[in-house]
Amino acid sequence: MERILIVDDDITFALMLRTWLTKRGFDVESVGSVAAARTALAKGSYSLVLSDMRLPDEDGIALLQWMSGEGIAAPVIVMTSYAEIQNAVRSMKLGARDYVAKPVNPDELLKKIREALEAAAVPEDSDTAVRPERGARGERAERAERGARAVRDGAEPLNYIEGRSDVARQLYEYVRLVAPTNMSVLVNGASGTGKEHVAQLIHRSSKRAGKPFVAVDCGAIPRELAASEFFGHVKGSFTGALTDKVGAFEAANGGTLFLDEVGNLTYETQVQLLRALQERRIRRVGSTREIPVDIRLVTATNENLEAAIARGSFRADLFHRINEFTLRMPELREMRGDILLFADFFLDQANRELGKRIVGFDAEAVAALTRCEWPGNLRQLKNAVKSATLLASGDYITCRELPAEVTAAAPAAPSFSLRDPASEEEQIRRALSAAGGNKSQAAKLLGIDRKTLYNKLHLYGIE
Ligand SMILES: Nc1ncnc2c1ncn2[C@@H]1O[C@H](COP(=O)(O)OP(=O)(O)OP(=O)(O)O)[C@@H](O)[C@H]1O
Ligand SMILES: [Mg+2]
Repeated sequence: MERILIVDDDITFALMLRTWLTKRGFDVESVGSVAAARTALAKGSYSLVLSDMRLPDEDGIALLQWMSGEGIAAPVIVMTSYAEIQNAVRSMKLGARDYVAKPVNPDELLKKIREALEAAAVPEDSDTAVRPERGARGERAERAERGARAVRDGAEPLNYIEGRSDVARQLYEYVRLVAPTNMSVLVNGASGTGKEHVAQLIHRSSKRAGKPFVAVDCGAIPRELAASEFFGHVKGSFTGALTDKVGAFEAANGGTLFLDEVGNLTYETQVQLLRALQERRIRRVGSTREIPVDIRLVTATNENLEAAIARGSFRADLFHRINEFTLRMPELREMRGDILLFADFFLDQANRELGKRIVGFDAEAVAALTRCEWPGNLRQLKNAVKSATLLASGDYITCRELPAEVTAAAPAAPSFSLRDPASEEEQIRRALSAAGGNKSQAAKLLGIDRKTLYNKLHLYGIE
Protein backbone atom coordinates (compact mmCIF):
# COMPACT_ATOMS: atom_id res chain seq x y z
CA MET A 1 0.00 0.00 0.00
CA GLU A 2 1.27 3.49 -0.85
CA ARG A 3 2.19 5.49 2.23
CA ILE A 4 1.47 9.18 2.28
CA LEU A 5 2.72 11.70 4.79
CA ILE A 6 0.58 14.80 5.32
CA VAL A 7 2.39 17.80 6.78
CA ASP A 8 -0.16 20.39 7.90
CA ASP A 9 -0.79 22.18 11.17
CA ASP A 10 -4.47 22.60 10.39
CA ILE A 11 -5.59 19.56 12.35
CA THR A 12 -9.17 19.45 11.13
CA PHE A 13 -8.14 19.72 7.54
CA ALA A 14 -5.41 17.10 7.94
CA LEU A 15 -7.88 14.74 9.56
CA MET A 16 -10.43 15.21 6.79
CA LEU A 17 -7.82 14.65 4.15
CA ARG A 18 -6.48 11.62 5.93
CA THR A 19 -9.90 10.02 6.21
CA TRP A 20 -10.66 10.77 2.60
CA LEU A 21 -7.37 9.33 1.32
CA THR A 22 -7.60 6.30 3.57
CA LYS A 23 -10.96 5.50 2.03
CA ARG A 24 -9.24 5.58 -1.33
CA GLY A 25 -6.76 2.94 -0.30
CA PHE A 26 -3.77 4.87 0.95
CA ASP A 27 -1.93 4.41 4.18
CA VAL A 28 -1.84 7.93 5.57
CA GLU A 29 -0.05 9.58 8.45
CA SER A 30 -0.07 13.20 9.37
CA VAL A 31 2.24 15.52 11.26
CA GLY A 32 1.88 19.20 12.13
CA SER A 33 5.36 20.65 11.76
CA VAL A 34 8.51 20.47 9.67
CA ALA A 35 10.43 19.03 12.60
CA ALA A 36 7.90 16.23 13.01
CA ALA A 37 7.98 15.61 9.26
CA ARG A 38 11.75 15.20 9.37
CA THR A 39 11.49 12.67 12.14
CA ALA A 40 8.79 10.72 10.33
CA LEU A 41 10.68 10.76 7.03
CA ALA A 42 13.93 9.73 8.67
CA LYS A 43 12.24 6.77 10.36
CA GLY A 44 9.82 5.40 7.81
CA SER A 45 9.65 5.33 4.07
CA TYR A 46 6.87 7.17 2.30
CA SER A 47 5.77 7.08 -1.30
CA LEU A 48 4.63 10.69 -1.26
CA VAL A 49 4.55 13.81 0.90
CA LEU A 50 1.67 16.28 0.92
CA SER A 51 2.86 19.43 2.59
CA ASP A 52 1.38 22.74 3.57
CA MET A 53 3.65 25.71 2.82
CA ARG A 54 3.29 27.63 6.02
CA LEU A 55 4.00 25.58 9.10
CA PRO A 56 4.49 26.69 12.66
CA ASP A 57 8.22 26.02 12.88
CA GLU A 58 9.58 26.37 9.35
CA ASP A 59 8.12 26.49 5.87
CA GLY A 60 7.58 23.83 3.24
CA ILE A 61 10.65 25.08 1.37
CA ALA A 62 12.86 24.16 4.32
CA LEU A 63 11.40 20.66 4.26
CA LEU A 64 12.11 20.32 0.55
CA GLN A 65 15.67 21.45 1.01
CA TRP A 66 16.19 19.04 3.84
CA MET A 67 14.72 16.14 1.84
CA SER A 68 16.94 16.88 -1.10
CA GLY A 69 19.98 17.07 1.20
CA GLU A 70 19.06 13.70 2.70
CA GLY A 71 18.49 12.17 -0.72
CA ILE A 72 14.85 11.37 0.07
CA ALA A 73 13.28 11.06 -3.35
CA ALA A 74 9.60 10.77 -2.38
CA PRO A 75 7.63 13.22 -4.53
CA VAL A 76 6.28 16.23 -2.69
CA ILE A 77 2.99 17.93 -3.51
CA VAL A 78 2.71 21.34 -1.96
CA MET A 79 -0.62 22.69 -0.74
CA THR A 80 -0.89 26.41 -0.64
CA SER A 81 -3.35 29.23 -0.37
CA TYR A 82 -3.95 31.53 -3.27
CA ALA A 83 -1.97 34.32 -1.62
CA GLU A 84 1.09 32.10 -1.56
CA ILE A 85 1.01 30.79 -5.08
CA GLN A 86 4.35 32.39 -5.81
CA ASN A 87 5.89 30.28 -3.08
CA ALA A 88 4.41 27.21 -4.68
CA VAL A 89 6.08 28.09 -7.94
CA ARG A 90 9.31 28.60 -6.02
CA SER A 91 8.94 25.31 -4.23
CA MET A 92 8.55 23.55 -7.56
CA LYS A 93 11.81 24.98 -8.70
CA LEU A 94 13.30 23.51 -5.54
CA GLY A 95 12.05 20.07 -6.39
CA ALA A 96 8.41 19.84 -5.39
CA ARG A 97 6.57 17.61 -7.81
CA ASP A 98 3.39 19.60 -8.05
CA TYR A 99 1.11 21.87 -6.10
CA VAL A 100 -2.55 22.26 -5.33
CA ALA A 101 -4.25 25.45 -4.27
CA LYS A 102 -6.19 25.56 -1.04
CA PRO A 103 -9.09 25.10 -0.63
CA VAL A 104 -8.10 21.74 -1.98
CA ASN A 105 -10.28 20.15 -4.60
CA PRO A 106 -10.10 16.48 -3.55
CA ASP A 107 -10.49 15.05 -7.04
CA GLU A 108 -7.78 17.27 -8.40
CA LEU A 109 -5.54 16.28 -5.51
CA LEU A 110 -6.19 12.59 -6.05
CA LYS A 111 -5.34 12.95 -9.71
CA LYS A 112 -2.08 14.68 -8.88
CA ILE A 113 -1.22 12.08 -6.26
CA ARG A 114 -1.76 9.28 -8.77
CA GLU A 115 0.31 11.06 -11.40
CA ALA A 116 3.12 11.64 -8.93
CA LEU A 117 3.13 8.03 -7.79
CA GLU A 118 3.10 6.74 -11.34
CA ALA A 119 5.97 8.99 -12.37
CA ALA A 120 7.97 7.96 -9.31
CA ALA A 121 7.45 4.29 -10.10
CA VAL A 122 9.04 4.59 -13.54
CA PRO A 123 12.62 5.87 -13.50
CA GLU A 124 12.96 8.19 -16.48
CA ASP A 125 16.49 7.34 -17.54
CA SER A 126 19.62 5.67 -16.29
CA ASP A 127 20.76 8.95 -14.79
CA THR A 128 17.80 8.82 -12.44
CA ALA A 129 18.84 5.48 -11.11
CA VAL A 130 22.32 6.67 -10.29
CA ARG A 131 21.51 10.09 -8.93
CA PRO A 132 17.84 10.17 -8.12
CA GLU A 133 17.77 13.70 -6.82
CA ARG A 134 19.30 15.07 -9.99
CA GLY A 135 17.19 13.29 -12.56
CA ALA A 136 14.11 14.02 -10.58
CA ARG A 137 14.95 17.67 -10.28
CA GLY A 138 15.33 18.07 -14.04
CA GLU A 139 11.86 16.77 -14.58
CA ARG A 140 10.45 18.80 -11.74
CA ALA A 141 12.03 21.95 -13.02
CA GLU A 142 10.29 21.28 -16.29
CA ARG A 143 6.98 20.91 -14.55
CA ALA A 144 7.55 24.12 -12.68
CA GLU A 145 7.78 25.81 -16.00
CA ARG A 146 4.81 24.12 -17.50
CA GLY A 147 2.24 26.61 -16.33
CA ALA A 148 4.77 28.74 -16.83
CA ARG A 149 5.54 27.05 -20.15
CA ALA A 150 8.92 28.45 -20.86
CA VAL A 151 10.62 29.29 -24.07
CA ARG A 152 14.34 29.12 -23.77
CA ASP A 153 16.62 30.99 -26.05
CA GLY A 154 19.75 28.91 -26.30
CA ALA A 155 21.49 28.86 -22.95
CA GLU A 156 19.86 32.03 -21.71
CA PRO A 157 17.77 31.74 -18.59
CA LEU A 158 14.05 31.60 -19.00
CA ASN A 159 12.82 34.81 -20.48
CA TYR A 160 9.21 34.04 -20.99
CA ILE A 161 6.27 32.49 -19.19
CA GLU A 162 2.73 31.82 -20.24
CA GLY A 163 -0.20 32.78 -18.08
CA ARG A 164 -2.74 30.16 -17.04
CA SER A 165 -5.90 32.21 -17.15
CA ASP A 166 -8.45 31.48 -19.84
CA VAL A 167 -7.57 34.54 -21.89
CA ALA A 168 -3.86 33.71 -21.72
CA ARG A 169 -4.42 30.09 -22.71
CA GLN A 170 -6.59 31.24 -25.58
CA LEU A 171 -3.85 33.56 -26.81
CA TYR A 172 -1.18 30.86 -26.78
CA GLU A 173 -3.54 28.43 -28.41
CA TYR A 174 -3.96 30.88 -31.28
CA VAL A 175 -0.21 31.43 -31.43
CA ARG A 176 0.36 27.70 -31.74
CA LEU A 177 -2.20 27.44 -34.48
CA VAL A 178 -1.03 30.35 -36.57
CA ALA A 179 2.74 30.09 -36.01
CA PRO A 180 3.45 27.21 -38.41
CA THR A 181 1.52 28.85 -41.25
CA ASN A 182 2.76 31.60 -43.52
CA MET A 183 -0.11 33.89 -42.61
CA SER A 184 0.58 37.54 -41.87
CA VAL A 185 -0.23 38.15 -38.24
CA LEU A 186 -1.25 41.46 -36.73
CA VAL A 187 -0.58 41.58 -32.99
CA ASN A 188 -2.89 44.13 -31.49
CA GLY A 189 -2.72 45.23 -27.90
CA ALA A 190 -2.06 47.95 -25.38
CA SER A 191 1.38 49.09 -24.39
CA GLY A 192 3.45 46.60 -22.42
CA THR A 193 1.22 43.60 -23.04
CA GLY A 194 4.02 41.61 -24.64
CA LYS A 195 3.44 42.13 -28.35
CA GLU A 196 7.07 41.88 -29.26
CA HIS A 197 7.42 38.74 -27.20
CA VAL A 198 4.54 37.13 -29.02
CA ALA A 199 6.00 38.13 -32.37
CA GLN A 200 9.23 36.36 -31.45
CA LEU A 201 7.32 33.37 -30.20
CA ILE A 202 5.54 33.08 -33.53
CA HIS A 203 8.87 33.12 -35.28
CA ARG A 204 10.46 30.58 -32.96
CA SER A 205 7.49 28.25 -33.28
CA SER A 206 7.46 28.46 -37.06
CA LYS A 207 9.36 26.58 -39.72
CA ARG A 208 11.46 29.69 -40.14
CA ALA A 209 12.85 29.42 -36.62
CA GLY A 210 16.43 28.89 -37.74
CA LYS A 211 16.26 31.87 -40.10
CA PRO A 212 16.53 35.57 -39.23
CA PHE A 213 13.96 37.48 -37.20
CA VAL A 214 14.27 41.13 -38.14
CA ALA A 215 12.40 43.75 -36.14
CA VAL A 216 11.79 47.25 -37.41
CA ASP A 217 10.38 49.90 -35.12
CA CYS A 218 8.26 51.84 -37.58
CA GLY A 219 7.78 54.64 -35.08
CA ALA A 220 11.50 55.32 -34.86
CA ILE A 221 12.51 55.67 -38.52
CA PRO A 222 12.70 59.19 -39.95
CA ARG A 223 10.37 59.36 -42.92
CA GLU A 224 13.13 60.16 -45.41
CA LEU A 225 15.01 57.04 -44.44
CA ALA A 226 12.08 54.64 -44.34
CA ALA A 227 12.56 53.28 -47.86
CA SER A 228 16.23 52.70 -47.27
CA GLU A 229 15.51 50.96 -43.94
CA PHE A 230 13.07 48.58 -45.55
CA PHE A 231 14.64 48.03 -48.94
CA GLY A 232 18.27 49.07 -48.56
CA HIS A 233 20.16 51.38 -50.85
CA VAL A 234 23.20 51.50 -53.06
CA LYS A 235 26.19 53.66 -52.34
CA GLY A 236 25.74 57.24 -53.52
CA SER A 237 22.01 56.95 -54.11
CA PHE A 238 21.43 59.93 -51.79
CA THR A 239 23.45 62.21 -49.56
CA GLY A 240 24.70 60.15 -46.70
CA ALA A 241 24.48 56.83 -48.55
CA LEU A 242 28.17 56.22 -48.18
CA THR A 243 28.07 52.47 -48.61
CA ASP A 244 25.64 49.86 -49.88
CA LYS A 245 23.02 48.98 -47.32
CA VAL A 246 20.94 45.86 -46.92
CA GLY A 247 17.35 46.68 -45.94
CA ALA A 248 15.11 44.85 -43.49
CA PHE A 249 13.32 42.84 -46.18
CA GLU A 250 16.54 41.42 -47.52
CA ALA A 251 17.97 40.86 -44.06
CA ALA A 252 14.87 38.90 -43.10
CA ASN A 253 14.94 36.78 -46.25
CA GLY A 254 13.85 33.24 -45.45
CA GLY A 255 12.76 34.34 -41.98
CA THR A 256 10.31 36.69 -40.31
CA LEU A 257 10.01 40.45 -40.67
CA PHE A 258 8.48 42.09 -37.64
CA LEU A 259 7.09 45.59 -38.12
CA ASP A 260 6.49 47.11 -34.71
CA GLU A 261 4.17 50.12 -34.28
CA VAL A 262 3.02 49.68 -37.84
CA GLY A 263 0.40 52.38 -37.34
CA ASN A 264 3.17 54.97 -37.42
CA LEU A 265 4.12 54.49 -41.06
CA THR A 266 3.66 57.43 -43.38
CA TYR A 267 1.22 57.06 -46.21
CA GLU A 268 4.02 57.03 -48.74
CA THR A 269 5.87 54.23 -46.96
CA GLN A 270 2.62 52.29 -46.68
CA VAL A 271 2.34 52.36 -50.46
CA GLN A 272 5.89 51.11 -50.90
CA LEU A 273 5.41 48.38 -48.34
CA LEU A 274 2.21 47.21 -49.91
CA ARG A 275 3.92 46.90 -53.27
CA ALA A 276 6.81 44.91 -51.81
CA LEU A 277 4.42 42.60 -49.98
CA GLN A 278 2.31 42.01 -53.05
CA GLU A 279 5.20 41.38 -55.38
CA ARG A 280 7.48 39.66 -52.90
CA ARG A 281 10.29 41.54 -54.58
CA ILE A 282 12.16 44.66 -53.61
CA ARG A 283 14.55 47.13 -55.17
CA ARG A 284 17.25 48.86 -53.20
CA VAL A 285 17.01 52.65 -53.33
CA GLY A 286 19.10 53.79 -56.27
CA SER A 287 19.15 50.38 -57.93
CA THR A 288 17.08 48.90 -60.72
CA ARG A 289 17.79 45.31 -59.84
CA GLU A 290 14.81 43.44 -58.41
CA ILE A 291 15.56 41.07 -55.55
CA PRO A 292 13.06 38.34 -54.69
CA VAL A 293 12.36 38.07 -50.98
CA ASP A 294 10.67 35.34 -49.02
CA ILE A 295 9.45 36.72 -45.72
CA ARG A 296 6.77 35.96 -43.20
CA LEU A 297 5.25 39.17 -41.89
CA VAL A 298 4.29 39.86 -38.31
CA THR A 299 3.18 43.35 -37.34
CA ALA A 300 2.23 44.95 -34.06
CA THR A 301 0.27 48.00 -33.08
CA ASN A 302 -1.39 49.46 -30.04
CA GLU A 303 -3.65 51.54 -32.27
CA ASN A 304 -7.06 50.77 -33.57
CA LEU A 305 -6.13 50.51 -37.23
CA GLU A 306 -9.75 50.36 -38.35
CA ALA A 307 -10.21 53.79 -36.83
CA ALA A 308 -7.02 54.94 -38.56
CA ILE A 309 -8.46 53.67 -41.84
CA ALA A 310 -11.65 55.59 -41.19
CA ARG A 311 -9.57 58.71 -40.51
CA GLY A 312 -7.70 58.12 -43.74
CA SER A 313 -4.29 57.72 -42.12
CA PHE A 314 -3.90 54.00 -42.75
CA ARG A 315 -4.50 52.25 -46.04
CA ALA A 316 -7.22 49.64 -46.04
CA ASP A 317 -5.43 47.52 -48.65
CA LEU A 318 -2.27 47.38 -46.54
CA PHE A 319 -4.36 46.56 -43.49
CA HIS A 320 -5.88 43.53 -45.19
CA ARG A 321 -2.50 42.38 -46.38
CA ILE A 322 -0.91 42.48 -42.91
CA ASN A 323 -3.97 41.25 -41.10
CA GLU A 324 -4.59 37.74 -42.36
CA PHE A 325 -4.87 36.84 -38.70
CA THR A 326 -5.26 39.07 -35.64
CA LEU A 327 -3.95 38.24 -32.20
CA ARG A 328 -5.46 40.41 -29.53
CA MET A 329 -3.18 40.73 -26.53
CA PRO A 330 -5.06 40.57 -23.23
CA GLU A 331 -4.38 43.31 -20.71
CA LEU A 332 -2.88 42.26 -17.41
CA ARG A 333 -6.04 43.17 -15.53
CA GLU A 334 -7.94 40.65 -17.63
CA MET A 335 -5.59 38.00 -16.26
CA ARG A 336 -5.76 38.93 -12.61
CA GLY A 337 -5.22 35.33 -11.57
CA ASP A 338 -1.87 35.35 -13.39
CA ILE A 339 -0.48 38.50 -11.81
CA LEU A 340 1.35 36.64 -9.05
CA LEU A 341 2.73 34.11 -11.47
CA PHE A 342 4.24 36.92 -13.52
CA ALA A 343 5.32 38.82 -10.41
CA ASP A 344 7.20 35.78 -9.17
CA PHE A 345 8.81 35.30 -12.55
CA PHE A 346 9.92 38.94 -12.67
CA LEU A 347 11.20 38.62 -9.10
CA ASP A 348 13.41 35.73 -10.17
CA GLN A 349 14.67 37.78 -13.09
CA ALA A 350 15.34 40.79 -10.89
CA ASN A 351 17.11 38.66 -8.27
CA ARG A 352 19.41 37.35 -10.98
CA GLU A 353 20.06 40.72 -12.54
CA LEU A 354 20.60 42.53 -9.26
CA GLY A 355 22.35 39.72 -7.42
CA LYS A 356 19.68 39.69 -4.71
CA ARG A 357 17.87 36.85 -3.00
CA ILE A 358 14.43 38.18 -2.19
CA VAL A 359 12.14 35.27 -1.40
CA GLY A 360 8.72 36.65 -2.29
CA PHE A 361 6.01 39.17 -1.50
CA ASP A 362 4.34 39.62 1.86
CA ALA A 363 0.56 39.35 2.14
CA GLU A 364 -0.11 43.07 1.76
CA ALA A 365 2.15 43.34 -1.25
CA VAL A 366 0.35 40.37 -2.80
CA ALA A 367 -2.97 42.10 -2.20
CA ALA A 368 -1.71 45.34 -3.76
CA LEU A 369 -0.29 43.54 -6.78
CA THR A 370 -3.47 41.63 -7.45
CA ARG A 371 -5.68 44.65 -6.96
CA CYS A 372 -3.76 47.09 -9.15
CA GLU A 373 -5.19 47.94 -12.57
CA TRP A 374 -1.78 47.84 -14.31
CA PRO A 375 -2.37 50.31 -17.13
CA GLY A 376 1.21 49.65 -18.27
CA ASN A 377 0.61 45.90 -18.21
CA LEU A 378 3.51 43.44 -18.03
CA ARG A 379 6.12 46.11 -18.55
CA GLN A 380 4.79 48.10 -15.58
CA LEU A 381 4.68 44.98 -13.40
CA LYS A 382 8.18 44.02 -14.42
CA ASN A 383 9.52 47.48 -13.59
CA ALA A 384 7.63 47.65 -10.30
CA VAL A 385 9.00 44.28 -9.20
CA LYS A 386 12.51 45.13 -10.26
CA SER A 387 12.65 48.41 -8.40
CA ALA A 388 11.07 46.81 -5.33
CA THR A 389 13.65 44.03 -5.49
CA LEU A 390 16.37 46.64 -5.51
CA LEU A 391 14.87 48.49 -2.55
CA ALA A 392 13.90 45.51 -0.40
CA SER A 393 16.13 44.89 2.57
CA GLY A 394 14.22 42.01 4.17
CA ASP A 395 13.38 38.60 2.74
CA TYR A 396 10.05 39.73 1.35
CA ILE A 397 8.92 42.65 -0.76
CA THR A 398 6.41 44.75 1.17
CA CYS A 399 4.16 47.63 0.13
CA ARG A 400 6.86 50.06 1.24
CA GLU A 401 9.03 49.05 -1.69
CA LEU A 402 6.30 48.99 -4.31
CA PRO A 403 5.72 52.14 -6.36
CA ALA A 404 3.03 54.44 -4.97
CA GLU A 405 0.82 54.03 -8.03
CA VAL A 406 0.70 50.31 -7.34
CA THR A 407 -0.13 50.47 -3.65
CA ALA A 408 -2.36 53.53 -3.96
CA ALA A 409 -4.36 52.02 -6.77
CA ALA A 410 -7.99 52.34 -5.92
CA PRO A 411 -9.24 48.83 -5.30
CA ALA A 412 -11.32 47.50 -8.14
CA ALA A 413 -14.99 48.29 -7.65
CA PRO A 414 -16.72 47.01 -5.60
CA SER A 415 -13.94 48.02 -3.28
CA PHE A 416 -12.59 45.79 -0.59
CA SER A 417 -10.02 46.58 2.00
CA LEU A 418 -9.60 45.12 5.41
CA ARG A 419 -7.59 48.11 6.60
CA ASP A 420 -10.65 49.82 8.10
CA PRO A 421 -11.74 47.61 11.00
CA ALA A 422 -15.04 49.39 11.52
CA SER A 423 -16.32 48.17 8.19
CA GLU A 424 -14.58 44.82 8.13
CA GLU A 425 -17.71 42.81 8.66
CA GLU A 426 -19.52 44.77 5.98
CA GLN A 427 -16.58 44.37 3.58
CA ILE A 428 -16.60 40.63 4.11
CA ARG A 429 -20.31 40.42 3.48
CA ARG A 430 -19.95 42.42 0.30
CA ALA A 431 -17.02 40.35 -0.90
CA LEU A 432 -18.97 37.17 -0.24
CA SER A 433 -21.96 38.38 -2.15
CA ALA A 434 -19.78 39.66 -5.00
CA ALA A 435 -18.19 36.21 -5.12
CA GLY A 436 -21.59 34.55 -5.11
CA GLY A 437 -20.85 32.90 -1.79
CA ASN A 438 -17.61 31.30 -2.98
CA LYS A 439 -15.27 31.72 -0.02
CA SER A 440 -11.99 31.33 -1.83
CA GLN A 441 -13.10 33.91 -4.41
CA ALA A 442 -14.15 36.22 -1.61
CA ALA A 443 -10.78 35.76 0.08
CA LYS A 444 -9.11 36.72 -3.19
CA LEU A 445 -11.19 39.87 -3.47
CA LEU A 446 -10.28 40.79 0.07
CA GLY A 447 -6.64 40.00 -0.51
CA ILE A 448 -6.50 37.63 2.45
CA ASP A 449 -6.03 33.90 2.60
CA ARG A 450 -8.82 31.43 3.07
CA LYS A 451 -7.84 30.52 6.61
CA THR A 452 -8.00 34.16 7.65
CA LEU A 453 -11.37 34.54 5.99
CA TYR A 454 -12.71 31.50 7.85
CA ASN A 455 -11.48 32.93 11.12
CA LYS A 456 -13.18 36.22 10.41
CA LEU A 457 -16.43 34.56 9.34
CA HIS A 458 -16.39 32.79 12.64
CA LEU A 459 -15.57 36.02 14.50
CA TYR A 460 -18.51 37.88 13.00
CA GLY A 461 -20.82 34.90 13.02
CA ILE A 462 -21.32 35.10 9.25
CA GLU A 463 -22.78 31.97 7.74
N1 LIG B 1 4.98 36.31 -21.39
C1 LIG B 1 5.92 37.07 -20.83
N2 LIG B 1 6.69 36.57 -19.88
C2 LIG B 1 7.63 37.35 -19.30
N3 LIG B 1 7.88 38.60 -19.62
C3 LIG B 1 7.14 39.16 -20.58
C4 LIG B 1 6.13 38.41 -21.25
N4 LIG B 1 5.55 39.23 -22.16
C5 LIG B 1 6.18 40.41 -22.07
N5 LIG B 1 7.14 40.38 -21.11
C6 LIG B 1 7.99 41.51 -20.70
O1 LIG B 1 7.16 42.65 -20.59
C7 LIG B 1 7.77 43.78 -21.19
C8 LIG B 1 6.86 44.31 -22.29
O2 LIG B 1 6.80 43.38 -23.35
P1 LIG B 1 6.84 43.85 -24.88
O3 LIG B 1 7.96 44.81 -25.11
O4 LIG B 1 6.79 42.64 -25.72
O5 LIG B 1 5.46 44.63 -24.91
P2 LIG B 1 4.79 45.45 -26.08
O6 LIG B 1 3.38 45.02 -26.13
O7 LIG B 1 5.61 45.34 -27.31
O8 LIG B 1 4.82 46.91 -25.50
P3 LIG B 1 4.84 48.34 -26.29
O9 LIG B 1 3.52 48.50 -26.95
O10 LIG B 1 5.04 49.31 -25.18
O11 LIG B 1 5.97 48.26 -27.23
C9 LIG B 1 9.10 43.33 -21.69
O12 LIG B 1 10.06 43.71 -20.76
C10 LIG B 1 9.01 41.84 -21.77
O13 LIG B 1 10.24 41.28 -21.45
MG1 LIG C 1 6.70 46.78 -28.31
